Amino acid sequence: MKSLIVQAHPLRCKIVDVPVPQPGPQEVLIKVIYCASNPRDWKAPDHLIPGEDINQGNEMSGVIEAVGSDVYEFRKGDRVAAAHPIQTANGTYAEYATAPVNTCFLLPPNISLEGSYFVVLNTSMFLTKVPSEGCTIPFALCTAALGFYQRLKIPFPTSPNNAEVQSPLIIYGGSSSIGAYSLKLAKLGRFTKIIAVCGSGRDYVESIGVVTHFVDYRKGNVVNDLKTALDGEKCLHAVDAINNGTSWNHLVAVLEPEGSRMSVYLPRLDYTSIPTHITIGPTFVGTVHGQPTPYWDQKCDEDVDFAYALFRLVSKWLAEGKISGHPYQLLPYGLASVENGLQQLKDGNVCAKKLIYRIADTPGLDYV
Ligand SMILES: NC(=O)c1ccc[n+]([C@@H]2O[C@H](COP(=O)([O-])OP(=O)(O)OC[C@H]3O[C@@H](n4cnc5c(N)ncnc54)[C@H](OP(=O)(O)O)[C@@H]3O)[C@@H](O)[C@H]2O)c1
Repeated sequence: MKSLIVQAHPLRCKIVDVPVPQPGPQEVLIKVIYCASNPRDWKAPDHLIPGEDINQGNEMSGVIEAVGSDVYEFRKGDRVAAAHPIQTANGTYAEYATAPVNTCFLLPPNISLEGSYFVVLNTSMFLTKVPSEGCTIPFALCTAALGFYQRLKIPFPTSPNNAEVQSPLIIYGGSSSIGAYSLKLAKLGRFTKIIAVCGSGRDYVESIGVVTHFVDYRKGNVVNDLKTALDGEKCLHAVDAINNGTSWNHLVAVLEPEGSRMSVYLPRLDYTSIPTHITIGPTFVGTVHGQPTPYWDQKCDEDVDFAYALFRLVSKWLAEGKISGHPYQLLPYGLASVENGLQQLKDGNVCAKKLIYRIADTPGLDYV
């Protein structure tokens, strides 16, 4: 099968032929229909874990091809979306990829894997495939939920405390995948004031329908604008999906001195400038697959079952329309466009959307 290796310095992607992998006992093997890019896909070979040329894809939708010996909930032919464990073999930039069952969920009937419709051009008729949002969900939503519930300790929707009114919430980077999914999760709770820091992605953030106040980081008055939005209310919870140093300094300036929590998503950074009275929630999606948080060396074994429960509920929430995927742009030529997509992410040119690829569009594949 075709699989794609991401290399750095310079950023290059190479399509190689490898054997179809076998699922481990607690894994499923998925025929990948769509996969999506995430910022870490270029960052890992570039500076996070340099020197390892591997398939960096972690997010997919597709059809189960085979199940491992201990798998009892999924079967061949199931339509699913799944997150693949980061920095491990058999990633999602490939025709087939593996995923542990705790980060695999069934796509409900209202979420198609892909739709198809006929387009008439001149006198010819073409069958066109349109993707669905499935592949935009697993990795980013899982990360957002870890930060939101496990690190910020916002009550989970099944908790009796979920009905309690929470203090104002700030989402720094509201249009990023992590920020937008955090907003969608906030919608399942009870917040009367939610402030989103965003820029050109504001329209999308507004469409989520939960933000009460907007702060435009491009205007350069973020701290003042956050204070104006808070209007004297104590703020105890913030999501920093941007983690550029400026962002957390802005949050430190407005978070309540006692009892505040801030979730951060780049655990390798130096956060020692954040005063100790603010509890930092280092969020690392690898913990759902038993990997320790880099530098913090937190194992967080409870995150494994957290993800299992979350992913079962995600199917239900999607079916009930309580949650939805992220906007996306389908790049042409399948795997052959991943390099272009990762370069766009590296250049910071992707606003409020995921870049996704249809594997069957890859030149040289012998199936459609
Ligand atoms: N720890 C983990 O396990 C983990 C997992 C996933 C991601 N991450 C990290 O989390 C971060 C977010 O990832 P993502 O996939 O959500 O990113 P993304 O969707 O690619 O983020 C793009 C968005 O960032 C916004 N943005 C850029 N600069 C901003 C600023 N100064 N203030 C506010 N918004 C700003 C842009 O907003 P506008 O268009 O509105 O200007 C853009 O829409 C990345 O650093 C990623 O590496 C970590």
